[in-house]
Amino acid sequence: MKKIIAFAGSNSKTSINMALATYASSLVKGVEVQLLDLNDFELPIYGIDLENEDGIPDNAHKFLQHIKTSNGIILALPEHNGAYATVFKNLFDWMSRIDGKLWSEKPMLLMATSPGARGGATVLEIAKGRFPYMGGNIVADFSLPSFFDNFKDGQITNEELNAELAKAVVTFQDAL
Ligand SMILES: Cc1cc2nc3c(=O)[nH]c(=O)nc-3n(C[C@H](O)[C@H](O)[C@H](O)COP(=O)(O)O)c2cc1C
Repeated sequence: MKKIIAFAGSNSKTSINMALATYASSLVKGVEVQLLDLNDFELPIYGIDLENEDGIPDNAHKFLQHIKTSNGIILALPEHNGAYATVFKNLFDWMSRIDGKLWSEKPMLLMATSPGARGGATVLEIAKGRFPYMGGNIVADFSLPSFFDNFKDGQITNEELNAELAKAVVTFQDAL
């Protein structure tokens, strides 16, 4: 059975992006889903001096291994001040020191959500622009605006948005 990983670029215990990634992963049929929590992969803040002195921490290797051994990736990115949340950027930077093509051409469903009306559209655009240079194979993307108006009890309540996500999931599934 194919295996996908789903995670949020967040370390919030109540991450809305994790809620979205979990929901999207539940719509993918016939795959084993592994949900990953960045809190289980704590890392020091990246610095060249730290890398030169101590090397690359195990948790960066471990997370990269999850990517490499998966058949596909569902990732939902929080937007912090119009960019990646620090915890994600830090993991991204560490992994990029092991393998510049870290996303390893695995089919990716890339998403973002936020409480605001733009639904993390800015960070989504940043990732869509950058990931392809780093082995990223984004086959579908989706932004969920106004999370707290459109998501309840583990699922999207707005029919139009739910249909849009379902379409993205089918595209992702077909690419696995
Ligand atoms: C430091 C900080 C900056 C934020 N900047 C933005 C922003 O630029 N755009 C946005 O839509 N939401 C912003 N937010 C609100 C986040 O979208 C919100 O906290 C969301 O819950 C983060 O996703 P998560 O729950 O998955 O961690 C910001 C929140 C924090 C704490």
